[in-house]
Amino acid sequence: MVRSAAASVPNNLESFWMPFTANRQFKKNPRMFVGAEGMYYTTADGRKVLDGTAGLWCVNAGHKSPRIVEAIQRQVEELDYAPAFQMGHPKAFELAARLVNLAPEGLNHVMFTNSGSESVETALKVAIAYHRARGEGSRFRLIGRERGYHGVNFGGISVGGIVPNRKMFGTLLTGVDHIRHTHDLARNAFTRGQPEHGVEFADDLERLVQLHDASTIAAVIVEPMAGSTGVLMPPKGYLERLRQITEKHGILLIFDEVITGFGRLGASFGAEYYGVTPDIINTAKGLTNGIIPMGAVLVKSEIHDAFMTGPEHLIEFFHGYTYSGNPIACAAGLATFDTYRDEGLFERAAELSTYWEDALHSLKGLPHVIDIRNTGLVGAIELESIPGEPTKRAFAAFIDAYEKGCLIRTTGDIIALSPPLIIKKSEIDQLFETLKTVLKNLN
Ligand SMILES: Cc1ncc(COP(=O)(O)O)c(C=O)c1O
Repeated sequence: MVRSAAASVPNNLESFWMPFTANRQFKKNPRMFVGAEGMYYTTADGRKVLDGTAGLWCVNAGHKSPRIVEAIQRQVEELDYAPAFQMGHPKAFELAARLVNLAPEGLNHVMFTNSGSESVETALKVAIAYHRARGEGSRFRLIGRERGYHGVNFGGISVGGIVPNRKMFGTLLTGVDHIRHTHDLARNAFTRGQPEHGVEFADDLERLVQLHDASTIAAVIVEPMAGSTGVLMPPKGYLERLRQITEKHGILLIFDEVITGFGRLGASFGAEYYGVTPDIINTAKGLTNGIIPMGAVLVKSEIHDAFMTGPEHLIEFFHGYTYSGNPIACAAGLATFDTYRDEGLFERAAELSTYWEDALHSLKGLPHVIDIRNTGLVGAIELESIPGEPTKRAFAAFIDAYEKGCLIRTTGDIIALSPPLIIKKSEIDQLFETLKTVLKNLN
């Protein structure tokens, strides 16, 4: 039967198969947002909920930031869509140039995507093709890290290291291996900022070089600070050592900065914050303040230039998306950058980070709390799992916090916090006072 587009659709929750959601639990007792402004969401039943997670680590300038909203409205009136292939529009070039300005020196070229996952696929393809373009086609191997999160597409879950994201999906990409993760509760629990112990975890890359030979390895991809797996900071010296080892062996280093980009750590990028420059940076999320889907991949000039050979009428790199550099997304990105700059939001995050750290660590000693860690405006509270029922305790905390007016995020039994960078001290207090009550009541 062909249904008319105008046919009325029953108002039920069944049709939408929700992403990364306990669908059956949600649909029994839905949590619906119908509005947002600044630091707060409004629920369908009219309650205000403090956003402790910047949506999904993306609304760094706060909700409905007026300049971004206006820029999008204006752009829709002016140019709705332009073909991404063989045609251009000014704002894509402007946004790319502004992004290069923000990035560490040497990362001079940008490809646009529509999400973090697409940025990851793009970066991995660039890495392999780059080696081939300069005559080292034997370098096809990709190295990720245990507990890494690089989105949900096949390349990303292959180099990723979160078991439930991988185990259902067959053989994944071949030619992938992983270095060990950096989480070390025994030595580093309750560290403020970067942990003291664990620089040697980077040497695991030498082990893989011994096993596979450097001549087969194209790239290593890591998050400078691993976010979605539960906020794991790089131990002191770790990223520097990874950089040394990759340089020594001619392996590209990719930083997946989908979370750590755009002020989250109190700097433009994690690369700047930690003082380590990779060859490729992936971004998304805060690039447009989460308003319009958009991602970007920044590459060093050597990488870009390796493709700029051959007859000039030929396409140099066979990759791109219909919506790469979409005009509306570019307008949102430009207004987002203006907002970050004019409101000094990256600096604000840096200034607030000590207050944030003290408030977060005041939860030490509450029931089930086995670790607390932080950097910039990111925090994590790791809870002891209920034996045999992993994730249940943190999920209960999530629900209770929501009912008490605060949005938090959980992954496994870890509570992850990453508020918009406009958060006020009084709102930091509100968040942690609520969490104190939640944690005291947890089973
Ligand atoms: C480091 C990292 N890479 C990639 C992604 C995937 O981004 P998206 O959900 O936009 O595809 C995320 C999302 O949280 C991320 O944190």
